[in-house]
Amino acid sequence: MTLPKINPLKTKSWGELINHFNKIQSQPISHFFANDSNRFENFSIKFDDILLDYSKNRINNETLEIFEKLTEEIKLEDAVKSYFNGEKINETEKRAVLHTAIRNQNNEKLIHDGINIIEKIKIERQRVFKFSNEIINGNYLGFSGKKISTIVNVGIGGSDLGPKMITESLRFYRNHLNIKFISNVDGDHVLDLLEVLDPETTVFVIVSKSFTTQETLTNGETIKKWFIEKTNKQAVSKHFVAVSNNLKKTKDFGISSDKIFPINDWVGGRFSLWSSAGITITLAIGPDNFQELLNGALEIDNHFKTAEFKNNIPKILAMIGIWYTNFWNAETEAIVPYTEYLRSLPAYLQQSVMESNGKSVNRKGEKTNYQTSPIIWGASGTNSQHAFFQHIHQGTKLIPVDFIGFKNPLFKNIEHHKKLLANLIGQVNALMKGKNKYEVEKELASTQMTKDEINFLTPYKVFEGNKPSNTIIFDKITPKNIGRLIAIYEHKIFVQGIVWNIFSYDQWGVELGKELANTILKKKNQNNSLSLESYLFS
Ligand code: F6P
Repeated sequence: MTLPKINPLKTKSWGELINHFNKIQSQPISHFFANDSNRFENFSIKFDDILLDYSKNRINNETLEIFEKLTEEIKLEDAVKSYFNGEKINETEKRAVLHTAIRNQNNEKLIHDGINIIEKIKIERQRVFKFSNEIINGNYLGFSGKKISTIVNVGIGGSDLGPKMITESLRFYRNHLNIKFISNVDGDHVLDLLEVLDPETTVFVIVSKSFTTQETLTNGETIKKWFIEKTNKQAVSKHFVAVSNNLKKTKDFGISSDKIFPINDWVGGRFSLWSSAGITITLAIGPDNFQELLNGALEIDNHFKTAEFKNNIPKILAMIGIWYTNFWNAETEAIVPYTEYLRSLPAYLQQSVMESNGKSVNRKGEKTNYQTSPIIWGASGTNSQHAFFQHIHQGTKLIPVDFIGFKNPLFKNIEHHKKLLANLIGQVNALMKGKNKYEVEKELASTQMTKDEINFLTPYKVFEGNKPSNTIIFDKITPKNIGRLIAIYEHKIFVQGIVWNIFSYDQWGVELGKELANTILKKKNQNNSLSLESYLFS
């Protein structure tokens, strides 16, 4: 079964949303609170120890009702079934989208192209776990008999961002291994890192689903050359590992077959951290913690499939995002986790959201006449408060924010953590409530300022408020909670792609730049004397 091909603008509910928008657009969020003493309870979801507070949005009960009707009209439930059952919903590449199958521990069968892939996944995961355990336990020795102390993940895009973000976010659960990442084809970065590496105790994990990505292969070759210069050719087999769907190319590179971990074509690069592409994560935190990461994601898969609309975290987040993108003309969404451990989450979500839903052709091959993916950006709180929050509070653009917080710190530093969370809550409330003219004047009147000075300063100190946000709170950073968090965003992406009637799982838009870079490189190799300017202006 293929995905429904329904233009959302042609549905009855979209028309209702337009009317509804016109009706409520002048009502600030604070009015909704004033009219509903249970607003927080009514507009929040508790799922185990996760709390999603979505009460600070420009929505009311009617908005939710129409959102739900829209999901029915565009046949979201059918699409969800196709997604989890492994239908080839990535139609332009004729592929299924089955990263969810990787966390399916229920011993269920899932037949894909005639094979029970659940069985296959288990076997592949056991290989990754076994290899990781051998390295972590010190049983795996390098070519000269030394234990491995450093792992370098070489990959880009989904073969880097997910593993890097998860490894950073779960650093608290790390073992003794030193984990490094190389992604950019910037030779300075590669050589800078190689300078401090010991080839005898380092394992390089080359992650590339296609094994044709210029950056990864160039970096891999440079590293291999350096490695052989320092050691010998035979040693490569002990120190280079590959994760790929392209077994031939990995062999051509010189990876020994017992060090090749396959990744299936039904796992998209930006959703591959759960698969063998997450081997660096397993090495960093150990198989048990990796399993917990999968368990957390599986819980969200089940929640997404079964929870009713009003209690469904990914569906609610998705529809609120559509509301701001298509009705309030918001162009961006800020992601602000109040923990340094998740500092790379915005970069990770940039790829998963924008590479998935940054599309302008619908599932019928026509140009969309509505907006799709927002621009995703952000940074950790509180740093972001001292960088871009001025703009969110008083700038001209509407920027919905996702705040992400954890009730408890990992190192039990309660004093710091109180301040961290006070800042998160402070920002959520400041954005929503703002500060009006009278409040500012009253505040200034209690100072030594003259009337003229107060009149001058007041407009600059007014906060309009009515700035929307979602707040997602977890108990603390654990592998399970990080798995849940990422799966929430994955399903949000899916729902939005279905509503926008686009194909979320291809990425044709990255190809042209790659092609041109290769053409330029060819020309440059043929005539090395050509200046950079001659390319820029040709
Ligand atoms: O350039 C886009 C992309 O194809 C991403 O989708 C992917 O995550 C990345 O390149 C890396 O691809 P590969 O794992 O095949 O090297």
